[in-house]
Amino acid sequence: MLGNSKTRTWKVIIILALVCMLLIATSVILVFQNPEEEQTTNIIQEPNDMSKSVLLISIDAFRHDYLECAVAPNLKGMSDQIHIQKLIPPFPSKTFVSHYSQITGLYPAWSGIVANKMYDADHNKTFSIGSASSYDSFWWWGEPFWISNQREGHLSGTVFWVASDVGIYGRNESPTYPTYYLSYDRDITYKDRIDQFFEWLELPKSKRPNFYTLYFETVDDMGHKYGPCSEEVIEAVDNVDGWIGYLIRGLEARGLWKTENGLNVIVDSDHGMTKTSKDKVILIDDYIQIDTSLIHCAHMEHLHLYPSLKNDFHYNDLECQERNSRLLSKSNSRGRANLNQNSPSQEYEAQVVNFSPVTQIIPAEGQEDQVFEKLVNASQNWTVYKKEDVPSKYHYSWEGNDRIKPIIVIIDLGWSISDRAYYEKYPDNFNGGNHGYANDYDDMAGFFVASGPAFVQENNSIEKLENLEIYQILQKIVGLQNPAPNNGTMKNIESLFK
Ligand SMILES: *[C@@H]1O[C@H](CO)[C@@H](O)[C@H](O)[C@H]1NC(C)=O
Ligand SMILES: *[C@@H]1O[C@H](CO)[C@@H](O)[C@H](O)[C@H]1NC(C)=O
Ligand SMILES: *[C@@H]1O[C@H](CO)[C@@H](O)[C@H](O)[C@H]1NC(C)=O
Ligand SMILES: *[C@@H]1O[C@H](CO)[C@@H](O)[C@H](O)[C@H]1NC(C)=O
Ligand SMILES: *[C@@H]1O[C@H](CO)[C@@H](O)[C@H](O)[C@H]1NC(C)=O
Ligand SMILES: [Zn+2]
Repeated sequence: MLGNSKTRTWKVIIILALVCMLLIATSVILVFQNPEEEQTTNIIQEPNDMSKSVLLISIDAFRHDYLECAVAPNLKGMSDQIHIQKLIPPFPSKTFVSHYSQITGLYPAWSGIVANKMYDADHNKTFSIGSASSYDSFWWWGEPFWISNQREGHLSGTVFWVASDVGIYGRNESPTYPTYYLSYDRDITYKDRIDQFFEWLELPKSKRPNFYTLYFETVDDMGHKYGPCSEEVIEAVDNVDGWIGYLIRGLEARGLWKTENGLNVIVDSDHGMTKTSKDKVILIDDYIQIDTSLIHCAHMEHLHLYPSLKNDFHYNDLECQERNSRLLSKSNSRGRANLNQNSPSQEYEAQVVNFSPVTQIIPAEGQEDQVFEKLVNASQNWTVYKKEDVPSKYHYSWEGNDRIKPIIVIIDLGWSISDRAYYEKYPDNFNGGNHGYANDYDDMAGFFVASGPAFVQENNSIEKLENLEIYQILQKIVGLQNPAPNNGTMKNIESLFK
């Protein structure tokens, strides 16, 4: 008995010792393993505090009132917390201009992106969306929010935002990209975009961004083709709303939707949309002789990514080649180059930089007054300004920005502008919808809803806000200490926050 119990005691002691060694070994392993790595596989059991993080989603050309013509239950649900009834785009209300203005907090004159198509005479450089030149950091002034964020040790993850795949200086010594980003590719499905966001969201804390973006273009595509609140636009809105639902369910599953530690989510748009028709087109070469070589031959190797721009650029491969060779033979016979010169050939009275509701015109040397007067005399459905006289509410006269040209033509809502040759060849391109008009038309106003712990919780509806205040809103959520100089005003957004 006694001997028996002694052996049993020893057995117990040995087993206990083995268990202790095992426990010590395990705890040593636990101590030396990064505890955050553990969370990646089990984010639901241990929700992360994301209350100072934000996902900014842009639905291109989602007009301020689209919730009234679509079903969109998910976006309507979000509008119960924060709803800005009109998010005012910058002037002009173009996609690149607006996205870059909101993410830098700067009026376009200071953000550098004053149009979707630009010409810098001092440097003889042309900017057009989708061209290699648009990836030149030279064009992008100011500091996009992701750089400000990263300067303070945070990380950013962008599944598309204008310029998020461009190296930009901001206040840094060298061109900087978001920590994680994808190059713009409209063929990446909306599901894959959102799943990419979830992948970043599940990274261990030390590698996880506090700032994310998503971008959806279909509502803009359908708006251009069929006009605002058309059946096709409504379908596109409900389709995107469905993807917002997919996103919300994914956040819910991770304990991050409408919870104290949840993620802040903003859905906004860059501008609205208005109906256009081929009966309302200004053919500017009926009034002045123009050179459009800056437009026609834009070298837009990625135009398929931006099909809605066809009327801004009048792009057509064959046309462009023909035109180039025509111009070349002309210039040879006169012994001077005609393309992209600082001042256009005297054969023309003016160069047109872009065909857009806000059109930039460079009068030929010595013809400034005559061109201006002719356009003013002819104007019916447009207003012509010398750069310095553009109404100050548009903040578009800064003499420090040479990309804003000496003459600015602002056309009335619903009108289009073209040259006669293009119009006669493709009249139906002018039926549908467009934006890019002055930013004080209601139809140009964008959309804003938000949800999350950083915001006031009860119904908060604001009548309107300029979209360059988005930079302030992001700053406030993540607690940015040292924002870049910008045109926003913190007090304009205070009522949105707790
Ligand atoms: C917010 O207001 C809308 C309409 O005014 C209402 O339907 C909704 O229930 C309200 N939500 C909350 C949380 O008060
Ligand atoms: C401007 O650049 C184009 C090519 O990008 C070139 O053909 C042209 O000669 C340049 N013009 C001047 C004035 O430098
Ligand atoms: C503009 O109209 C005025 C008044 O009709 C006329 O005197 C002037 O010559 C016109 N200017 C041009 C450049 O056509
Ligand atoms: C546009 O011009 C036509 C004349 O061509 C005029 O009847 C109409 O009132 C103008 N529309 C606006 C909005 O100014
Ligand atoms: C916008 O902000 C920039 C940078 O701070 C500043 O230089 C510019 O004067 C501001 N523009 C206006 C209209 O306030
Ligand atoms: Zn568009």
